[in-house]
Amino acid sequence: MDIYSGKSPAHPWFLVTTSLRPTPAQTDLAKHLAVTLQAPFVKRNDFSLETLSTRFSAAGLVVVSSQRVSYISGGSEFFFHPGIAKLRIKELKSGKTDQMIAAMSLLPGDTVLDCTLGLGADAVVAGYISGACGRITGLESSPVIAALVERGLATYTDKDQDITPAMRRVKVININYKEYLASLEPCCFDVVYFDPMFRFPRRNSPSINAARSLADHAPVCREAVAIALKVATKRVVMKERRNSSEFARLGFKTIVGGRYAPVVYGVIELRGKSQ
Ligand SMILES: C[S@@+](CC[C@H](N)C(=O)[O-])C[C@H]1O[C@@H](n2cnc3c(N)ncnc32)[C@H](O)[C@@H]1O
Repeated sequence: MDIYSGKSPAHPWFLVTTSLRPTPAQTDLAKHLAVTLQAPFVKRNDFSLETLSTRFSAAGLVVVSSQRVSYISGGSEFFFHPGIAKLRIKELKSGKTDQMIAAMSLLPGDTVLDCTLGLGADAVVAGYISGACGRITGLESSPVIAALVERGLATYTDKDQDITPAMRRVKVININYKEYLASLEPCCFDVVYFDPMFRFPRRNSPSINAARSLADHAPVCREAVAIALKVATKRVVMKERRNSSEFARLGFKTIVGGRYAPVVYGVIELRGKSQ
């Protein structure tokens, strides 16, 4: 088996490979991702994914196939898919309220800093509302999640004429939001948004479950909210479980969400700031 990249691996220890019998383009993409992710590229040959992980003691494998780029670990597969965003955009088009958009009070042309990009669903829905004149920046501290979601957002095409441009509007940056927020000038986004991994994990979200081993589980810190309040001109919004003590700890007094929804949005409104 050929190791392409000599760089040290990212955490957790994983490899990059292809599906069986890859095209030259798939092999090139896998090698490119290996360099980006500072992980070894391993030629697939005829080995099963299980054999590759055992031989290299890898916790997971990034696999480039003709359909997609996935991260496979412990029998679960994580890959970009705009499913939930599509459903929410369809509902918005039919006149229904999207509680995140309501909490952000988002309008066409608005700019959003999504500090916790994850699978990108919230960012794509925000991109649909903010439109061609808006700007959505998504931050993700996990290199694998950032790389897979960035590629999905840039390449996935949908029949619905509104979905593809909404995905293309999201700019992905692989960085910890604490570092990024600290580098920003005051008032450079309309909305700053946090959707941290829940302190008490929910079990009924399969796509997030698959990415769980890669994700950053640290709670939002007060310092980050304090900087977000300087960076945003309109609102700082955080998604959390209903009745979560995180809202009070971080200073979110206004809560927006459906009456029986298990997940709601804390809002801090910034009235009177220059826009
Ligand atoms: C619950 S998920 C976000 C889901 C996302 N809102 C969506 O619609 O798919 C939280 C994500 O934020 C990332 N994250 C957590 N802390 C972070 C930090 N300090 N900086 C950047 N990303 C972070 C995690 O790695 C995870 O991918």
